[in-house]
Amino acid sequence: MKQEFSKRRKKLAAMMEPGSIAILVSAPEKIRSRDTHFPYRQDSDFYYLSGFCEPESVLVLVPGRRQGECLMFCRERDPEKEIWDGYRAGPEGAVKHYGADDAFPIDDIDDILPGLLEDRQRVYYAMGKDAAFDSRLMAWINDIRARSRSGATSPGEFIDLDHLLHELRLFKSAAELREMRKAAKISAQAHCQAMRACRPGMYEYQLQAEIEHVFARNGARYPAYSSIVGSGANGCILHYVENSAKLRDGDLVLIDAGCELNYYASDITRTFPINGKYSGEQKAVYEVVLASERAAIDKVVAGNHWNDPHEASVRVITEGLVDLGLLKGSVDGLIEQEAYRDFYMHRAGHWLGMDVHDVGDYQVEQQWRLLEPGMVMTVEPGIYISPDNEKVAARWCGIGIRIEDDVAITAKGTEILTSAVPKDVAEIEQLMAG
Ligand code: GLY
Ligand code: MN
Ligand code: MN
Repeated sequence: MKQEFSKRRKKLAAMMEPGSIAILVSAPEKIRSRDTHFPYRQDSDFYYLSGFCEPESVLVLVPGRRQGECLMFCRERDPEKEIWDGYRAGPEGAVKHYGADDAFPIDDIDDILPGLLEDRQRVYYAMGKDAAFDSRLMAWINDIRARSRSGATSPGEFIDLDHLLHELRLFKSAAELREMRKAAKISAQAHCQAMRACRPGMYEYQLQAEIEHVFARNGARYPAYSSIVGSGANGCILHYVENSAKLRDGDLVLIDAGCELNYYASDITRTFPINGKYSGEQKAVYEVVLASERAAIDKVVAGNHWNDPHEASVRVITEGLVDLGLLKGSVDGLIEQEAYRDFYMHRAGHWLGMDVHDVGDYQVEQQWRLLEPGMVMTVEPGIYISPDNEKVAARWCGIGIRIEDDVAITAKGTEILTSAVPKDVAEIEQLMAG
């Protein structure tokens, strides 16, 4: 893995203009309440280039610098603090284990970083993410400016680092894809477990526990995002995370949950009947969503553009809503008027990677971007019939269905990473009956 991180830094360096420096800051620790913290999660960009998971760290890349191109600032080792809060690599460890050419205590950054900025023309930095660090950086620059009469020259150009780095992150390497396959497999197992465990009378959070138990048991210690377990009409709330309702016989439950494994996300949604058998209406809507998901996945092909899968899902959903009598009119006209948006109000998917809604532009020069090998995305159409929708018969109201898979475009073709969890009605009913 050390080589993988160094390869990424080299790729970024090759994209940077001559005479430049890149600065990345670790994620802050976040307090949950009083003196307890949320579990620490390193910033994805920082981790992508360093593999280093400690807070209070700064990574500096100075391509072409003879005394070392990759520098790290981090916490010093401290036996007393380590007894309480755990191991620290220290600057020594940053060099030995993380491929830094040189490393320094974070407390020395004010003395060292201005010297690194001096005589560089351009700074690559993600301005606006960390206000405190933004102003420190400006103070260092001003400090150099103040010394201009003694010959110091300060960088004249600030460039958004995100732009370059996120273009790199959009294309997954073989090693990244291996992690993503593993994450997807664990999440698929977890969804199967939720289907097996589900019974009327349980609570949504108990299904959440089944899912997250499988994640953790398999080494994926955290969900990639807050698990969504919405039963009945809660399935119509796109990011429902309360997960507190009782599961009622005859309702569906929508579970949107995916683990994070070694900094890579997975993202799966399945919607299944709490009692193990879809009702007529539930099945009718489900089949439309499933057909639209399959049609969208068929469009995830290198050379197609980003919006092709979405457009395919819109067409199948609109046709289905007309067939079910939930929309009236011509399919083309309804698509034109976006009438489907009362039932399908989100996009068919997003990039997937270290972040669940991963980085990378969806448009290039105001055109939808073409799909290419290395990209990974979700496909997740849905139909949500609001419990308050007075335009449709009551028997449809409160049905919320989404089906979501993770799809990679590889040199060999399209690979569905999450195919180990069933989505056909018969297969789901069979798994639940078993
Ligand atoms: N779980 C968030 C999403 O599917 O986009
Ligand atoms: Mn999802
Ligand atoms: Mn998603």
